[in-house]
Amino acid sequence: MSQILAIANQKGGTGKSTTAVHLAYYLAIQQGHKTLLIDADSQSSSSQWLHNLKKSIAFKAIHEKDRLFEEIPRLASDYDYLVIDGPAGRLDDETKAILAWSNLVVVPIQPKVLDLSSTLKAVMLINQAQQIRQGQPLGTLFLNRAKPGTRLKDEATRFLQAVPGMVALKTIIHDREAIADAPGQNATTWTMSGRPAASARREYKQLFSEILSLLKGLDPT
Ligand SMILES: Nc1ncnc2c1ncn2[C@@H]1O[C@H](COP(=O)(O)OP(=O)(O)OP(=O)(O)O)[C@@H](O)[C@H]1O
Ligand SMILES: [Mg+2]
Repeated sequence: MSQILAIANQKGGTGKSTTAVHLAYYLAIQQGHKTLLIDADSQSSSSQWLHNLKKSIAFKAIHEKDRLFEEIPRLASDYDYLVIDGPAGRLDDETKAILAWSNLVVVPIQPKVLDLSSTLKAVMLINQAQQIRQGQPLGTLFLNRAKPGTRLKDEATRFLQAVPGMVALKTIIHDREAIADAPGQNATTWTMSGRPAASARREYKQLFSEILSLLKGLDPT
């Protein structure tokens, strides 16, 4: 049975593509699952990144709402996991097509005041899909690019816990140079050397374990 995981937030630059590429790598290479990344962002940054990795991780760019709606279930039947990198900007119809099929959606949020409020737009679309689909997709939120010891990080953590219909993930991904450097090195933190990359890896591993254990509790499609 396939599982469809979407990384969504119409707010730009919150870490969707970075999370999607790290998750696709984790599922395909570390765990050996048949995995496809669907790049729904017209900037195609995650497909470009995966292309440059030169690993056998399948990816496909689909930017148009009707194609997303029609192709996601078809592709899902050929893979264990689909990881969908969602679009930024006012592409609500594309996001809705993705939410119509996803089992679980992950919303990365940066601990900035404006990002917190604009997240509510993504949450509204998720809540609408949940009403139609008897609670699916399971909605999850996590803090990305958090700075340790800041008041904003603490405030954002409390904000996440209060968002209706969504699970606040316990793992926080901190603002790490190794993560920002990864695409420029045609790599992910899974293979980069040095302690900074190892710290980033540890956080990603914890985040993805948390997400996968939530998925296990859902009925497969
Ligand atoms: N945890 C992190 N630490 C440091 N830099 C990060 C982290 N997560 C993401 N970034 C950087 O933040 C920028 C935006 O990330 P990314 O492209 O993944 O966001 P996005 O949500 O996909 O953006 P868009 O909405 O434009 O598609 C990139 O330069 C990326 O390298
Ligand atoms: Mg992106």
